[in-house]
Amino acid sequence: MDLDDRLDLLAIDQADRADCAALFARSGDDALVAEVVASITRSMGSFNEIPVGEPTQEPLVWLAAYLRLVPALVEWHREHGIAEAVTRDTLADVGRHVAISRRVTGEFGLQTWRWLGHHYSARLFALGRLQFALQRTSRSVPGMLAPGDWALEAHIPESGPLLPALVDESLNRARAFFAVHFPDRPVTVVTCNSWMLDPFLADRVAATSNVGAFIRRFTPFGESSDGHTDALYFVFRTRDLDRVPTLPRDTSLQRAVLERLDRGESWQIAWGYLRL
Ligand SMILES: CC(C)(COP(=O)(O)OP(=O)(O)OC[C@H]1O[C@@H](n2cnc3c(N)ncnc32)[C@H](O)[C@@H]1OP(=O)(O)O)[C@@H](O)C(=O)NCCC(=O)NCCS
Repeated sequence: MDLDDRLDLLAIDQADRADCAALFARSGDDALVAEVVASITRSMGSFNEIPVGEPTQEPLVWLAAYLRLVPALVEWHREHGIAEAVTRDTLADVGRHVAISRRVTGEFGLQTWRWLGHHYSARLFALGRLQFALQRTSRSVPGMLAPGDWALEAHIPESGPLLPALVDESLNRARAFFAVHFPDRPVTVVTCNSWMLDPFLADRVAATSNVGAFIRRFTPFGESSDGHTDALYFVFRTRDLDRVPTLPRDTSLQRAVLERLDRGESWQIAWGYLRL
């Protein structure tokens, strides 16, 4: 597979293509890239039972490994009968995150190098508006979910409005997709762990909004954890708390995020589940 095909499949923006090409051709850190490739390859298809090891935390080494690994991941998907469109949608997150990195830092990079390990270990799939990661859960919901059960974790990429009809379609697709492709890992529950499920937000966006409707699909459970700058990052793409006073407060989402930080409180990464 030549480089242009890889960049197309990863939906790399025009602005990032020359840098990706230079990274692909660069040989100085070959040994480290090979270690990352080996670490992801070991994890591929283990659904995180073999976690992706981190021989380095250098983002561009990870991106170089992700460029190298495209044919192997495409082949894994093909062997498991996964439709080309799903492979394409799943891998398009690479270009999305490289573009977000440029938007945030002004430079070529991949701030979220660890996140894409889910895609490359072949346990996360984009099915319409949402992405789903198949894994053994460590969480417990009485009568619904016990630690060690297979479950789907839902993720929300930055890809436009979270229309309820699109969320319905994604959940319907997930039900069929995982039953067909991974019948030996049966799932009946979708969990979500997000700042969007912090109860502080539910009271501050309209119940009829897309975000409000999404929140109400999930039943809260378990302990939340501090995610101080997460909401700031997802809504404003900055983690710089010094910028809080000057950030725009035009929408209910922006006001909610900033109000909580004005109060000196921490956003919570809260858990919710729904029955698939
Ligand atoms: C958050 C997100 C899903 C919102 O989707 P949406 O369908 O546009 O949201 P809604 O239509 O329900 O909007 C509700 C309010 O939030 C505002 N809003 C939505 N997205 C916004 C954004 N990115 N920045 C600022 N305000 C936003 C809307 O303008 C609306 O404000 P109003 O009540 O003043 O009219 C979408 O912006 C997104 O994909 N964000 C990034 C992904 C993310 O945060 N993932 C979670 C990771 S844990």
